[in-house]
Amino acid sequence: MRQVAADLKSRGDLGFVPTMGALHAGHMALVELAVRENAGVAASIFVNPTQFGDPEDFDKYPNTLDADLTMLEQAGVEAVFLPDVSVIYPPGDETIVETTKLANMLHGEVRPGHFRGVTTVVTRLFNIVQPHRAYFGKKDYQQLAVIRRMVSDLHIPVEIRGVETVRDADGLALSSRNVRLTPEQRRAAAVLNAALTDAEEAIRGGADLDAARRVIRERIGAAPLARLQAIDIVDAATFEPVEGRPNGMVGIMVSALFGDVLLIDQREVTP
Ligand code: PAF
Repeated sequence: MRQVAADLKSRGDLGFVPTMGALHAGHMALVELAVRENAGVAASIFVNPTQFGDPEDFDKYPNTLDADLTMLEQAGVEAVFLPDVSVIYPPGDETIVETTKLANMLHGEVRPGHFRGVTTVVTRLFNIVQPHRAYFGKKDYQQLAVIRRMVSDLHIPVEIRGVETVRDADGLALSSRNVRLTPEQRRAAAVLNAALTDAEEAIRGGADLDAARRVIRERIGAAPLARLQAIDIVDAATFEPVEGRPNGMVGIMVSALFGDVLLIDQREVTP
């Protein structure tokens, strides 16, 4: 893979889109931007075991490899890295990469070890592919912040590009997990985006963040199939939790369970 990447880099900048497969239009938005911004683009498909707390969640992760490869090829991706677990985590492996604060707050507190798994695999992938730029979705808002922190702290020479969330017509953020929803849960799941819109309107209308939280709680609480898990509001630049009336852009993150499927969504709001 390193040789393939080096060949691509001989033509100019290399963009890299790391994925866990089960690709949808959200991933393809990352790929499209990567194709526009680079001379060549490589992707990876690797369902990373170290970022799953629950082995069942890992086993249930959808696998649509043939369709994924077709989509990537049609979109202009020239190399797809499909490593075995033993390549990324060789026998005897013991090195981890962790952003000690960011990885263990908010979503990281409810999924211990999750972000450590992400930073560890992304570092290993970056070291193999050595791209100029790498592309991540803003839907995984904390993941993006964690990766930016890691790259900055470790002086990793890769430019991190965050890409806007792609949504279905009813506003539901695209996610590989959406296929696990029943038709009723799928209809109900649009409430996440609706709640974020309510909160955005409230903040723009002068409300403080407590009121914004209340609005989200009420909207999601009124959806019978949704079980709200968390509402986190952070300063978009520092990722520090914020209270009161925000001065600058904030990132609002919500998560809710629909049956046993945990969905997350996010909105950046400037007051
Ligand atoms: O966002 C994902 O799909 C994964 O967390 C990533 C970045 C590919 C690491 O496994």
